[in-house]
Amino acid sequence: MDKIVSLCRRRGFVFPSSEIYGGLGSTYDYGHYGVLTKNNIRSLWFQAMVQERDDMVAIDSAIILHPRVWEASGHVEGFTDPLVDCRTCKLRFRADKLEDAQCGNKPSKHPGEWRECDLTEARQFNLMFETSVGPVQDSSSKAYLRPETAQGIFINFKNVLQLARRRPPFGIAQVGKSFRNEITPGNFLFRVREFEQMEMEFFVPPADAERWYRYWIDERLNWYVKYGLRRSQLRVREHTAEERSHYSQGTSDIEFLYPIGWSELEGVANRGDYDLTRHTEFSTTKLEYVGSDGERYVPYVIEPAVSIERIFVALLVDAYDEEVVAERERTVVRLHPAIAPVKAAILPLIGRNEDMVGRARSLYEELRRQHIVEYDDGGAIGRRYRRQDEIGTPFAFTIDEQTLEDDTVTVRDRDSLAQERLPLSGVRAWLDEALERPWTTPKGD
Ligand code: GAP
Repeated sequence: MDKIVSLCRRRGFVFPSSEIYGGLGSTYDYGHYGVLTKNNIRSLWFQAMVQERDDMVAIDSAIILHPRVWEASGHVEGFTDPLVDCRTCKLRFRADKLEDAQCGNKPSKHPGEWRECDLTEARQFNLMFETSVGPVQDSSSKAYLRPETAQGIFINFKNVLQLARRRPPFGIAQVGKSFRNEITPGNFLFRVREFEQMEMEFFVPPADAERWYRYWIDERLNWYVKYGLRRSQLRVREHTAEERSHYSQGTSDIEFLYPIGWSELEGVANRGDYDLTRHTEFSTTKLEYVGSDGERYVPYVIEPAVSIERIFVALLVDAYDEEVVAERERTVVRLHPAIAPVKAAILPLIGRNEDMVGRARSLYEELRRQHIVEYDDGGAIGRRYRRQDEIGTPFAFTIDEQTLEDDTVTVRDRDSLAQERLPLSGVRAWLDEALERPWTTPKGD
């Protein structure tokens, strides 16, 4: 993980937030390449979940919802972690994860000796961030930043049913920020307090729930493989009955082999009719499906839920490679071209040569209308290639002496390092085609 953190910082993908004020634990800001990569992850998810399907609609609900939403959902009562405080070092730990605790014990007067933590009894700590709505701060203005996007979907079930004229099976998808006051955040972006969730609630006739649950596990697993994660680094782990959330009739984690070990990348849950029933009860608005033939039922819900942060880390971890080429070490990030923040670099071989610069700039201006591409004329060509390798740019077009003679350029492939010559006028069509080509990771299965 240290290598990924350092690469992200060095190349401006992600850096610690509020750094000039000393940072704010486990909060990160995304730089240019981080933003571009996140945009790609979000739009490829949306493409697969909404754009390419007949049975899906999108929604974008508010972050601050009516506080009763979180009573109905069970979050006010149950979205808690057991917490203990240390009376000596004043740190807080999850009572069920004491083995992971990084103790802040102060050394005693005797060198080499550390004071033990003096732990309080465990108490329940709610993970929702509280805020107040309006100018008066009292219990009537108390509200929460959403800890998941899912509830914004359930409370809009009736709107979608009526206005989008849907009948089960159909889904509602949402992408947006969620907030959790995690007690033990960490491992870079893996567990943060502010993250971008991509959730989809799929409403089905109860009798079909099991089949759709299996369907969505497969769909999501295939999506990860399609965008470059090796199958050997993914597995599906079904929760035991004790592990399941209060709403769940069945949950499977799609796990990835992160540097911290196998951990949850995405969760797929069969939430049964828990949410629609609870919101019916709390809001007194009936949330059910009524067919034209009078058939009536509360749909079951299948939910694939993931954060962009967990996908971002998994993709970088799996794509990261170090190798020796011509006796020089290179770091290369073998991202799927659709995920890569920059699709191609346009490089004049000699940055001070006006003819090369002129041709390179006009190629760049042509390509950037369609794709995110980068122009770079600073420094030795080898260094410029290495920089592009580290940000995962799949192709580099170089304008050299021969270009000035015969209007051809070289294209360099990030993974194989193969170079071929192309007519300058054909570069745009070549790149369009190359980015559409099916891609498999050169790292194998
Ligand atoms: N609506 C169901 C739900 O929110 P969850 O398992 O608590 O379920 C779903 O979260 C997904 O959100 C996780 O699989 C993970 O990808 C992501 N996630 C949850 N907490 C996170 C955190 N603190 N930091 C980053 N991602 C997180």
